[in-house]
Amino acid sequence: MCGIIGYIGHREAAPVLLKGLQRLEYRGYDSAGVAIFANGGSRDGILVRRSVGKLTNLDRLLQDQPVHGSIGMGHTRWATHGRPSEENAHPHRAGKIVVIHNGIIENYLDLRHKLQAKGRTFNSETDTEVISHLIDDYIQQGLSFTLATRAALKQLEGAFSIVVLCEDEPGKILTAKNATPIVIGLGEHENFVASDVPALLEYTRKVTFLEDGEMAEVTREYVTLSDFQGQPIEREPRTIEWDTVTAQKSGYKHFLLKEIHEQPQAIIDTMRGRILPEESDVSLGEFDEHSELLNSIQRIALVACGTAWHACLAGKFYLEELARIPVEVDYGSEFRYRNSPLERHAAILAVSQSGETADTLAALEGGKSLGLPALAICNVVDASIPRRSDIVLYTHAGPEISVASTKAFTTQLTALYLLSVYLGRRRGVLDEGRGRQLIDDLINLPAQVQEILTKTKHIEKIAKKYGHAKDFLYLGRGVNYPIALEGALKLKEISYIHAEGYPAGEMKHGPIALIDEEMPVVVLLPKDPVYAKTLSNMKEVEARGGRIIAITDAPSPELEDIAWEVIQVPTTNHLLMPILLTIPLQLLAYYSAVYRDTDVDQPRNLAKSVTVE
Ligand code: F6R
Repeated sequence: MCGIIGYIGHREAAPVLLKGLQRLEYRGYDSAGVAIFANGGSRDGILVRRSVGKLTNLDRLLQDQPVHGSIGMGHTRWATHGRPSEENAHPHRAGKIVVIHNGIIENYLDLRHKLQAKGRTFNSETDTEVISHLIDDYIQQGLSFTLATRAALKQLEGAFSIVVLCEDEPGKILTAKNATPIVIGLGEHENFVASDVPALLEYTRKVTFLEDGEMAEVTREYVTLSDFQGQPIEREPRTIEWDTVTAQKSGYKHFLLKEIHEQPQAIIDTMRGRILPEESDVSLGEFDEHSELLNSIQRIALVACGTAWHACLAGKFYLEELARIPVEVDYGSEFRYRNSPLERHAAILAVSQSGETADTLAALEGGKSLGLPALAICNVVDASIPRRSDIVLYTHAGPEISVASTKAFTTQLTALYLLSVYLGRRRGVLDEGRGRQLIDDLINLPAQVQEILTKTKHIEKIAKKYGHAKDFLYLGRGVNYPIALEGALKLKEISYIHAEGYPAGEMKHGPIALIDEEMPVVVLLPKDPVYAKTLSNMKEVEARGGRIIAITDAPSPELEDIAWEVIQVPTTNHLLMPILLTIPLQLLAYYSAVYRDTDVDQPRNLAKSVTVE
């Protein structure tokens, strides 16, 4: 969602804020703004600059109307309340107070009416502006900056993280959070606040994460934490392993392409230290301490959103086949409002790249409130979801900047596969021979992914040939049906072509009516036990004139006859085929988007980390 950065130190704030916002722009980007204590607050007070559209507009504005000072904050906005406009862009000022905010204040209308009744005038349609008025109102009543902010925080309902400046106290930034992330970066005679780690990496790797219901007072020299009641909190800072280089484009035209190409390494990093080839086994240190709990689990509820939900659908096949544990899969947004009867001997497993997705987090909390042990697969270390979980399996894919998820997805599949082999071996479902084979296949996988990535030209040509189409259909069976869904989602979100994913066997129950000579149909056709069935479905498409793009590990003259295009991938066991089949789908979506000249890394209306409902 919205990106937040704050700075207090000895550098010029404007460039620090702009650079931080560039690193966060993927979170939301319909407008942006900064507030800076001009000349350290001595003369002109806090100056605000805001502009609609991309960050370059704000950059230009700051060149035309510069603000010099070394304390400030910046924001990129992804609209929730109020259309994208300069008035609705953050920061929002009321009297002495200036605020930036990520999230949604659910009781903002009620608060707004109360503040209006006191004679306060609002300049925007946002929920954020009530926060600045509320704090300023307490200041007018005589409270200090910190006490006024704390009093206001107690009145806010919803998910939010905020950063606040006060005209009267130029040496201090306040920040607070409830359900959306805030991380504080600790430097030498300077400190930082951000919604996400990449904004800070250039300056420091020493960070402190705020927990829900906490606020922090940040000055040049110190950071003090307390809860909303004012109780002090002590927390040791953590060190982040990622460096800035891993968060750059490294010569690729787009982050998305870079992240697609990073997949062999990302899969290796997910496996690293977790494979025991000698013992035909997997070692998940995080899980070993909980062996009794894991042995007692008789059912797992997987919860996630979007691409991570597709990983869960494939994960169901892994866990059920390799560990013989019944699995149900839910969208986070559905599970949280479903009256699930799960309780004894069940567990909830949340899968999330960011670890901040509001619906997934709420579903996890819902599972916990039923008494279920909470497990997580996550990429971002110490994000809210892993922090709220009992056992965490990190994917270690490195920062994923492009809004559309690629390496996060294939590493989530890798992690689910590792977990399934781990549980299968401990439950006696997998003998040593099968364990060995499954592990060998996984070890070979990164090189096979690399092999696909060396032949992208063919896929680029296919994208150019079909990139004008209005609709695409994606078909797959079994564990590859979720991959059809993922292929369709990737195409939709970055190229804006309408696409549907369907189980191949379901096509005749409806979608077949859509097929004509204009319709490219992508068929996932690995040589697995249902190969012949999928081939028959392909023939049904051919008979209706559909343009078939087949992705297979087993090309044949018969297939060449039916399909307009054949993309070959290497072969592996049927549970790892989804990972290999995913790569051409990502490339097809990427090159279609490039052909249609869309904003690949920041598709319209989307945000990387969806921290609101
Ligand atoms: C699609 C995409 C989204 C995310 C979803 C969940 O390319 O990126 O569908 O997968 O918003 O995000 P995380 O994994 O951060 O919970």
